[in-house]
Amino acid sequence: MNTRRVAALLLVLTVASAAVAAGLDARGWHTGTPAANAVRVLGPVGTEPIDVPFPADFMARLKRTTFVIYFSPTCPHCQHVAPEIAQLAARIGDRVDVIGVAPGGTPPDQIRAFRKVYGWTFPVVADADHKIVSAIGAQGTPSALLVTPLNGAARLVDLWYPYALGSGTLVEMRVSENPWAPFGPGEYHGIKTCGACHAAEAESWALTHHSIAWRTLVDDGKDKDPACTGCHVTGAGQPMGWDGTAATDRLTDVQCEACHGPGGPHDGVVTDPKTQCVNCHDAKHSIHFSYEKGLPLIDHYAASELDDVGFDAARRKLVSGEAPRALLAFGDGAYVGAAACLTCHAEEHAQWATSGHGRAMAPLAGKPSAEDASCVRCHATRTQGGPPSTHVFDYRVDEGVGCESCHGPGGAHVAAGGGKDNIVGLGESCPVCVIEAVCTSCHTKDWSPEWDVDVDLPKVAHRPVTGAHP
Ligand code: HEC
Ligand code: HEC
Ligand code: HEC
Ligand code: HEC
Ligand code: HEC
Ligand code: HEC
Ligand code: HEC
Ligand code: HEC
Repeated sequence: MNTRRVAALLLVLTVASAAVAAGLDARGWHTGTPAANAVRVLGPVGTEPIDVPFPADFMARLKRTTFVIYFSPTCPHCQHVAPEIAQLAARIGDRVDVIGVAPGGTPPDQIRAFRKVYGWTFPVVADADHKIVSAIGAQGTPSALLVTPLNGAARLVDLWYPYALGSGTLVEMRVSENPWAPFGPGEYHGIKTCGACHAAEAESWALTHHSIAWRTLVDDGKDKDPACTGCHVTGAGQPMGWDGTAATDRLTDVQCEACHGPGGPHDGVVTDPKTQCVNCHDAKHSIHFSYEKGLPLIDHYAASELDDVGFDAARRKLVSGEAPRALLAFGDGAYVGAAACLTCHAEEHAQWATSGHGRAMAPLAGKPSAEDASCVRCHATRTQGGPPSTHVFDYRVDEGVGCESCHGPGGAHVAAGGGKDNIVGLGESCPVCVIEAVCTSCHTKDWSPEWDVDVDLPKVAHRPVTGAHP
């Protein structure tokens, strides 16, 4: 099997897994094909048997079904998956041989050191004349395949090009009589495992904020803070869930198993995802959350109508902070402007009026951008709810970034002469999740590359800040 052959094979598999969608269901989701890829993962690879043309000396090593991992000791991706492969080898070692293959020219002491660090006890050979890599057609490390000797040839059982964290479960499924046996009770596998069959769901997930929850903490320098990590990862606090060690790296972000429970329904335990949201979307970390409001926003088939270009654009929008955060959208209500707050909140008003926010239209003054709603939407406060208007006259340009950009519509609050339930108070117990999400709706990575909530929040406080923000 040459490189082109593998590439063609993978292409067929990708095309076959692309779901064709039309219309939205009652949940506001595109219609999808659940587990469209299951046949590929559980059934035969390709339409006809494939023999891998290994060189004779390597063939001689194949005594029974063998898991071949092509890796380089210096490749960071290989180092990343190495602990998982050590675990995998231990789990399947009774049924399957494991052989590592390093590129020719890798110094033997480098291989020795790598095996020692990661506890690889299975043999590793160096591909001196590049015959093995040319036989398997791998284009990078780590890549893995499973072969079984048959009539003097090496019959391909399955391949993982590239091998990624979570692929281990798939390998184990391949070599287990009951393919679901590796889904032990309470075991977390990670989205790579789920996505091998649930490809459409995994792609769509990558367009939701859940897929960047860990990145959010890393950007904030809070990824080591136990007060933060729990809700931004999968299975924290569970016996086999994320625990901050390299061995559970595959469980960062809010993945499938955060809502569907460890192993999804495949370990025999069905978790109703509806009951899981409020574990994280509690009153302190999500404003006015409801399942009904959240459900359409986690459309499992949102990606099914996008081509590659559309998908990349949507993903880029998410990562740059431009994707809408619909959950966070302030409730309905009338926007009344900062002047309407002056009588009762003179102190806040005075501080705000002289701040950058009160003068946020100044940098645009006299320029065409002052008439351009795509600029004004972050430099001035809207006069009405709903998605950002494309008309400049729907913004209060004379007030810049006013009170209601941060506190939400104030109509009901003003009419009632004050109160706590009719306005988004950001003080006292309000946690950083909510506040920062409000700020970063404008302070995106493009506009505020140096953004640091600990530094920037005190700068806009209405009165001098004494202690650290909660
Ligand atoms: C080997 C393929 C495969 C893997 C791996 C896999 N699933 Fe599934 N999953 C399926 C199939 C097949 C079904 C049944 C689909 C159907 O009903 O059409 C299913 C059903 C489900 C369902 C229930 C759907 C329903 O109708 O209620 C959920 C939820 C689910 N899987 C989640 C997961 C999660 C989470 C993971 C990763 C831990 C995962 N699956 C891994 C193949 C797989
Ligand atoms: C393990 C914790 C966790 C669970 C469980 C969870 N979420 Fe989230 N959710 C988060 C975090 C953290 C974010 C913010 C991620 C980011 O942007 O960094 C988020 C973001 C979101 C967003 C996007 C934010 C926005 O303003 O639009 C939606 C929508 C959402 N969640 C809906 C849900 C729904 C619906 C459920 C249950 C079916 C759920 N979540 C379950 C942690 C969780
Ligand atoms: C109890 C669960 C929970 C804990 C603990 C938690 N978060 Fe969150 N976080 C969430 C949820 C849920 C959201 C999404 C809120 C929404 O959009 O409605 C979120 C959103 C965020 C956002 C906004 C993401 C964005 O892109 O706008 C930031 C930033 C954030 N969290 C940082 C932190 C930090 C820092 C900590 C620790 C101090 C922390 N979180 C602790 C659940 C939690
Ligand atoms: C934020 C929580 C959340 C995450 C993360 C999540 N799901 Fe779901 N999933 C749900 C909810 C809610 C439903 C709908 C349940 C219903 O319709 O009653 C659902 C439904 C499903 C279904 C049934 C198909 C259907 O159309 O109803 C499958 C299969 C599934 N999820 C798989 C996955 C996989 C695979 C992942 C990861 C790629 C994933 N889910 C991530 C919450 C989540
Ligand atoms: C997504 C919100 C957003 C949009 C859209 C936006 N801005 Fe800004 N702009 C900001 C923020 C936030 C700052 C403050 C940056 C800081 O100090 O961290 C800013 C600052 C500026 C400044 C001050 C100088 C600087 O670069 O820091 C100018 C000038 C400016 N913006 C012009 C524009 C123009 C022109 C457009 C339309 C093409 C525009 N902005 C669109 C959010 C936005
Ligand atoms: C008629 C007087 C009055 C006007 C006008 C008014 N407020 Fe208030 N506001 C109050 C009072 C009184 C409280 C304190 C409520 C309490 O502690 O129970 C308050 C509290 C608040 C809070 C804190 C809420 C909390 O949860 O802690 C915010 C934020 C706020 N106002 C913003 C605004 C904004 C923005 C405007 C203009 C759109 C405005 N207010 C106009 C009287 C007013
Ligand atoms: C509606 C959009 C918007 C929101 C929401 C917003 N900002 Fe800004 N912010 C801006 C713009 C635009 C500027 C640039 C003003 C200028 O350069 O004159 C700015 C400037 C700043 C500055 C520098 C100027 C100064 O006053 O020192 C800081 C710090 C800042 N913002 C922090 C925050 C924080 C913290 C939050 C959340 C509590 C927040 N911003 C919410 C749009 C916004
Ligand atoms: C850039 C975002 C932003 C803008 C604009 C803004 N606030 Fe605030 N406001 C906050 C934050 C963050 C807090 C909580 C932390 C603090 O006290 O500074 C807060 C707290 C408050 C409180 C609670 C009591 C207090 O003073 O601590 C009131 C009342 C309030 N703001 C009124 C206003 C009024 C009135 C305006 C307009 C004149 C306004 N805010 C403009 C972000 C903002």
